[in-house]
Amino acid sequence: MADKTAAGRRNGKATSEPQTAKPATKSSSSLSITDILRIVGGLFLLNCLLSYFITNDSVLWGWRPWFIRPAVLTRYFQGPVHLTDAQLVQYDGSDPSKPIYLALNGTIYDVSAGARVYGPGGSYNVFAGKDAARGFITGCFAEDSTPDMRGAEYTYVASDIPLPAEYSLDPSTAETEKVTGAVKSYRSNELRRARKQVQDTIEGWAKMFRGEGGKDYFEVGTVIRPEGWLEKEPKKALCAQAIKGRPKPRSAPAQGQAQDAGAQYRGGR
Ligand code: HEM
Repeated sequence: MADKTAAGRRNGKATSEPQTAKPATKSSSSLSITDILRIVGGLFLLNCLLSYFITNDSVLWGWRPWFIRPAVLTRYFQGPVHLTDAQLVQYDGSDPSKPIYLALNGTIYDVSAGARVYGPGGSYNVFAGKDAARGFITGCFAEDSTPDMRGAEYTYVASDIPLPAEYSLDPSTAETEKVTGAVKSYRSNELRRARKQVQDTIEGWAKMFRGEGGKDYFEVGTVIRPEGWLEKEPKKALCAQAIKGRPKPRSAPAQGQAQDAGAQYRGGR
């Protein structure tokens, strides 16, 4: 008892009164993990509801990752399909028990969600059941339903640049004279730009077919082709419609005019 009193004095408190021990609980202002999860979950749910009421369609503001799309999930678990060009034809929409597929540069996409457009009688049925990548560039859907892209870039090359004989509808008009200097550089710039445009255009379509633009299409697999298939195909001339639609000349320099590569650095011209 004497010891307790001494200890009480040291603490500056009288120890004659009974000590009221505070319960060892957390302060009421701190949040538990469960509380935080509840708040985050509630906010997420609210966000989903708001998105659904505003977009009238999506609970994630139009974002549709593959793992929330049932058809894509099913395909994911089934694994990719690998079809030859001959097998791909069976998926052109004429058999209602099969999905509608189209291919672009060897990648197959399921476009069943666009049955109105790609199915029988649809405005783009011409693309169904095949790889018609070339037609996506030239716009000649019937003649160019092939994945052979050789020379398709001339669709985007300025019209003052003659077509090489192998891509020309009339090879007799093909240029035989060798070009040099500024003309050569103008042509190679045009070709480089056109090839990039082909790549970008195909990638733009591929994005749409992967469903990235909001359509319910998705990638399902690849087309199987024997090695060296392209070399065995005869080269295709650029179709008339693509020739007609080639862009206007972009101020071609005259043949023989030497390009002064240093002029832009000197100034005072
Ligand atoms: C290289 C040229 C072209 C290509 C490769 C092309 C390709 C396509 C494709 C694949 C679709 C279907 C998109 C989807 O899945 O929803 C489409 C839709 C459409 N295209 Fe084209 N197109 C071209 C040029 C044109 C032109 C010049 C016009 C108009 C004069 C046009 C009018 C349309 C229309 C109206 C639709 C909507 C069809 C529908 O929903 O029924 N297209 N195009």
